[in-house]
Amino acid sequence: LKVFKPNLTSALLIEATVPIAQDHHRLLDLGSGNGNVGLEIAKKCGLNRIFSSDLDDATGQVVAEQSINYGIEVDHRIGSLFEPWCSEKFDLIIDDVSGVAEEIAIISPWFNGVPCASGESGTRLVAEVLAQSKDYLLPEGQIIFPIISLSNREDLLQVAGKHFRDVRLLRRSDWPLPPSMMPHLDLMRKLKKLGYANFTEKFGMIICYTEIYIGSGFVAACG
Ligand SMILES: C[S@@+](CC[C@H](N)C(=O)[O-])C[C@H]1O[C@@H](n2cnc3c(N)ncnc32)[C@H](O)[C@@H]1O
Repeated sequence: LKVFKPNLTSALLIEATVPIAQDHHRLLDLGSGNGNVGLEIAKKCGLNRIFSSDLDDATGQVVAEQSINYGIEVDHRIGSLFEPWCSEKFDLIIDDVSGVAEEIAIISPWFNGVPCASGESGTRLVAEVLAQSKDYLLPEGQIIFPIISLSNREDLLQVAGKHFRDVRLLRRSDWPLPPSMMPHLDLMRKLKKLGYANFTEKFGMIICYTEIYIGSGFVAACG
């Protein structure tokens, strides 16, 4: 089964969420892949049941196996973004749907057969999640989401600021572009010029970064 392999973003999401999640929370792991993010948080924070979903139906079996390994109940559903969660509400949504510029995702080692229709600037799915999340959050609910520098960071922060009163940076980590992507430097530079990627070139390396944000105080829809 080809399910996304946990990476640095997964680890940062876990690290950033553990101080915030509480054992009574209804926690949704959106874009769960194999379920490691939600399950690790549940284990560390004492939650015995979590919710997760992913567009990729290969995740069904993998998450079921992981749920048994961890001894934590997972209500896992298959579908795009919030489609599987009609009229459900959560204390904490951890969004990890694909958020890398599509042309970069294609040449990367990360999305091998894993869905990534994130658009040319990488923001399409995350922006939709941010806009829709208020319908799925309890009154004091919060959303935790990564911004990867291989997407249009400024656009995403603007969208987040439109839908949440308080958007705060929790974690940031730099990382070098994998060597297998170095032959695509021209494409990377082109996307940087367009504002779809942000990185620095140092000592022959491309240094990218991942940031983890929390959005609180969602702005209720008018009317
Ligand atoms: C960056 S991976 C993260 C996976 C997992 N959280 C982890 O850390 O291993 C992004 C996940 O988003 C899923 N995805 C892509 N498009 C989606 C969509 N429209 N709705 C829900 N999930 C989606 C992919 O199948 C993939 O599992």
